[in-house]
Amino acid sequence: MIRLDRLLVNMKFGSRKEVQDLIKNGEVYVNGKIETKKDRKLNPTNDKVVVLGEELYYKDEIILAVNKPIGYLSANIDPMHPVIIDLLKEPYHRHDFKIAGRLDLDSQGLLILTTSGHTVHEITNPNKKIVKTYEVTTDEIIDIKMLNRLLEPIKILDGNNDSYITKALEVKLLSDKMALISLDEGKFHQVKRMFRAIGYEVINLKRIKIGKYLMPNIK
Ligand code: URA
Repeated sequence: MIRLDRLLVNMKFGSRKEVQDLIKNGEVYVNGKIETKKDRKLNPTNDKVVVLGEELYYKDEIILAVNKPIGYLSANIDPMHPVIIDLLKEPYHRHDFKIAGRLDLDSQGLLILTTSGHTVHEITNPNKKIVKTYEVTTDEIIDIKMLNRLLEPIKILDGNNDSYITKALEVKLLSDKMALISLDEGKFHQVKRMFRAIGYEVINLKRIKIGKYLMPNIK
């Protein structure tokens, strides 16, 4: 149960004072009746709340699979670049989403956004070994023998530029310059650095799977 004024602040209808004014002015309906008590307790998953004509969409947890375009930052706010949160449409614009595992600015594909810190932890905690799959386009034709070297321990740099030994769980050649790679780790620029270690520059990187989540529109 949550107080009506607290719910409306959480759902970004304004400051405590502003939402209390909305309630006092008869702009808020609960289950079809005007509610003027700011401390009315309700259960937002069952009780229907309408504010200024807008019905609240509320769930205890929301998980979204979002297709990040190139040029968007995996962030909630940024002064320089568009951010993934900018792409959220109604009814999700009223929720606070956390990003479960980032992608580089010039990468694209699957990002999981969730309102639950627990889900973020389940996806991003390295101990959970969640498998992520990427579709990689390289600058040059891929030699299958080189690609298969990614299945053996290989040295790259991690986010602190310390050397780090890693290997892929799976690789698959898709075409001359395209391959799939699956990893259960997520070091900084890991896929690009692994391909660089075998002599290729990644010119396009698209994440298509994170654990049980698939990119939208992919079967
Ligand atoms: N590996 C990379 O190099 N970049 C990403 O965005 C994700 C994985």
